[in-house]
Order: sequence, then C-alpha cells, then structure tokens
Amino acid sequence: MLILAIETSCDETSAAIVENGTNVRSNVIATSRDAFERSGGVIPEQAARKQIESIMPVIHEALGEANMLPEDIDLLAVTKGPGLLGSLLVGTTAARTIASVWQKPLIGVHHTFGHLSSPWLLSSSQPSFPILTLSASGGHTDLWYRTDHTKGALLGQTRDDAAGEAFDKGASLLGLPYPGGPAVAKLAEHGKKDAYVFPSPLANEDTLTFSFSGLKTALRYLLRDIVDSQEADGLSHEILANVAASFQHAIAEHLCSRIERALKKFRDVRELHIVGGVSANLHLRMLAEDLASAGGIQLRVPSSISYCTDNAAMIGAAAYFLQREDPETAFSSFETTASLPLENAMITTRH
Ligand code: KG4
Ligand code: ZN
Repeated sequence: MLILAIETSCDETSAAIVENGTNVRSNVIATSRDAFERSGGVIPEQAARKQIESIMPVIHEALGEANMLPEDIDLLAVTKGPGLLGSLLVGTTAARTIASVWQKPLIGVHHTFGHLSSPWLLSSSQPSFPILTLSASGGHTDLWYRTDHTKGALLGQTRDDAAGEAFDKGASLLGLPYPGGPAVAKLAEHGKKDAYVFPSPLANEDTLTFSFSGLKTALRYLLRDIVDSQEADGLSHEILANVAASFQHAIAEHLCSRIERALKKFRDVRELHIVGGVSANLHLRMLAEDLASAGGIQLRVPSSISYCTDNAAMIGAAAYFLQREDPETAFSSFETTASLPLENAMITTRH
C-alpha cells in the first residue's frame, strides 16, 4: 500500500511516500527554522506563511523523488492536530483538495501517533509488543505502555513544559539559537555533566508524571549566581559548556527516572522506544541504553535523525497501521484542530 503523507503542524513542511508503513520511498522536509533562530521560538503567523510557500513544491518533490504518479497512490494521510492552527490548515487543506481531485481516501492522523509510529520506518527488524515508549518533543512529553500499534495506556505526561521546550528555553537563557536541543547538545560536548547539580523534579512523588519548569528556573538562578561571582564580564566557553552539559544531563536523568520506574512496574515490556525531537539527543540515548540493557530489553530509536524530528514519513506509517487495525476510525471525517488531547493519539486501554 502506497501512502502520500503530509505533515505541517509547526515550522516544518513535509511530504512523504511510504509503502506498507515501513518503506520510505521519499521524505521531503522544508523548514522555516532559520527565520526563528533569534526569536527563541516559532512565530505562528510567519510559520503559516512559509507553509503556504512550501507545501506544493514539497509535495511535487516527494512524488518526483519516489517516481510516483497520482494513480500509484492508494491513499493520503495528513496531520490533523495538535499544532499551530495556521500551519495545520495549510497541510489539511492541501490534503483534502488532492484527495478530492484524485478521488482517494484520506486519513487524519494525531501528530503524537505519528511520532509513536516512527521506529517502524526503514528499521532492519520489526519491533515487538508490549513496548514502553517515551515520546518527547517541543510540544509534549509522555510515556506509553503499548500492546499494539493503535492500542496502549498513557502512563504519564508532563505537568508543565515539554522536554524539548526545556531545551529551547534553556538555550535561550544560554544565548543559543532556536531550536535549543541541538544547540545545547553541541555546547555540552565540551562540558562536564557533573559540574553543576540541578534539583530532581518531583523528587518526593512516586509518579510517572514529568515536570521541567523547575529545571529552567534552576538554570536561570545558576547563570545569575555564576555571573555574580565572576570578576570579569561574560562567561567563559568552558563554564557555558559545563552548564549546558549539566542541564542536558538533568533533563535526560529526569526522563530516564520515569522510564526506570515504568520498566520495574511493567515486567513484560519487550522493547523500549524513544521518539520525538528529543530522541535525537545522544546523551539521552546513552542513559536509556544503560536502562534497556540492565532490563535485558532492546532500545529502539528512529533509524534516522530526520524521523526523530517532525516529518511526513511517520504520518504515513501511522496511517498505514490505523487503516489496518482500526479502519472504522481511520476513514472517519475529521476536523483540523490546534488542541487534540493526548488520549486521542491511540485507542487508550487501562493499565
Ligand atoms: O518532534 P519535534 O520536531 O517537534 C515537535 O513536535 O515539537 O521536536 C522538536 C523539539 C525541539 O524542542 C528541539 O529543541 C528538540 O526537539 N530537539 C532536541 C534535539 N534535536 C531536536 N532536543 C535535544 N537534543 C537534540 N539533539
Ligand atoms: Zn513532533
């Protein structure tokens, strides 16, 4: 089955052709990220305008790269939410129009369900359930116990900021560009992760809930204290690298503390997955790998960095599994919406 998938939930415009949920024939991504480097985050109006400019060229390129004609495509898939409404509407309007002209079915996909499906893309072996998945990006951070592609229990989510948002806000305090995750990770390469100690969020609660806003505040005070204690103006590269490494370590440790707790609770878990933009972080991957090997299970992350951050291929994979496992829901009509509860990402089961 060949699916033409479209993802425009934020500042990336992406179109992909995905075969049978796993084989990526093309995955084209245009980003307006450069425009937001100095603003510390995405400006919705501007992102939507860029989406309009990019959407048709990106779709043409995805079809051309895969050498596909409209008649080769079985169905279309598009991110229906959550995200920036202006950006989402560009993708869903394009998808609805093409589906109508080509007379093909269309599936609306929850953005998080796309991320959850990303480890299947071009993977050398197929994952096996039950799976514990940490999905961490700029907009959400959540932990799932999954018994099937479309079925699972939401074990925990963030109470305030998302993990990627913590990286983005931390980067801004450190004077680094948006998006913060890659910038903090790069600076941290030359720093010591134990140079500064950050408080453990929700330390006294036996929970699978996340919280990142305290880490951001701790970083603000740490930088202020370091500046106050300095005689010379400005902070050396060495100090900044140590702060970045310690901050990155604190985020990764908080994420892993919940994974460790969940793995103790759900002994039948066969694989640990980390998905979403933050899964590109190598330090997080290293800590997660230790947890997985201690538990005798496999850690799986998307097979390429471009499947970690927003991309249309993951939406194509998600749509394939949706129509296979839950055709009634898959083909029902949908609204384009900025806020879509996390619980709607999958058929949620009790745990
Ligand atoms: O999944 P994604 O592309 O978009 C959303 O759905 O939000 O995730 C983007 C987030 C940003 O907050 C970015 O800073 C973070 O993922 N990110 C990273 C890394 N690469 C991207 N965070 C930590 N380390 C990275 N290498
Ligand atoms: Zn995302």
